[in-house]
Amino acid sequence: MQTFEAIIYRKGVRSYTNQQVSDEQLKKLILAANAAPISGGGYRDSARQLTIIQNMELLNRISKTAGEMMGGGDPIYGAKTLIIISAPENSFHAEQIDVGLMAQSVLLAATDMSLNTILMTSVIAAFQANAELLSAINLPQGYHPFVGITVGYTDDDTVKTREYKDDNVNYLR
Ligand SMILES: Cc1cc2nc3c(=O)[nH]c(=O)nc-3n(C[C@H](O)[C@H](O)[C@H](O)COP(=O)(O)O)c2cc1C
Repeated sequence: MQTFEAIIYRKGVRSYTNQQVSDEQLKKLILAANAAPISGGGYRDSARQLTIIQNMELLNRISKTAGEMMGGGDPIYGAKTLIIISAPENSFHAEQIDVGLMAQSVLLAATDMSLNTILMTSVIAAFQANAELLSAINLPQGYHPFVGITVGYTDDDTVKTREYKDDNVNYLR
């Protein structure tokens, strides 16, 4: 897949099959994640942490806690892999940008491998509300989880194309 295609074909997917992603695919996602730009040239105070959760018991706890906070449903949509991206606050006040760029690289690399994803903040509320759950993901001292990304396969083949729109573009020519 060409880069441009990965960008326009990526869609948030909210339904996953039982098929797990392979370790080889995970390695490529990690490679892509760590290739993202980072503020401060990658000094320790602008580091980011990937937590890859495939433990079913933990996934179920996360789903249950976040689901209860949202008033029901499975906020990870049955996915068998959940990636949490965390970072410490840094002196550039750029930790959320660092995390966002890393997340987008994961989403696009996954799309390139025909994997499905969705970026979520709903699961983060569960970690903020439940200290036990937060300690279960074992983050380094001072790191905060910012986003979750589900990765997997779907049998929902509804939306695959994007329409061109420019109503949010202001041309000054
Ligand atoms: C910061 C952020 C937080 C999001 N949180 C959630 C979430 O908690 N649950 C969810 O299902 N989707 C979440 N999304 C996905 C958006 O709903 C989705 O990206 C948007 O509707 C556009 O659809 P698309 O990703 O298919 O293009 C989030 C997206 C962003 C950028």
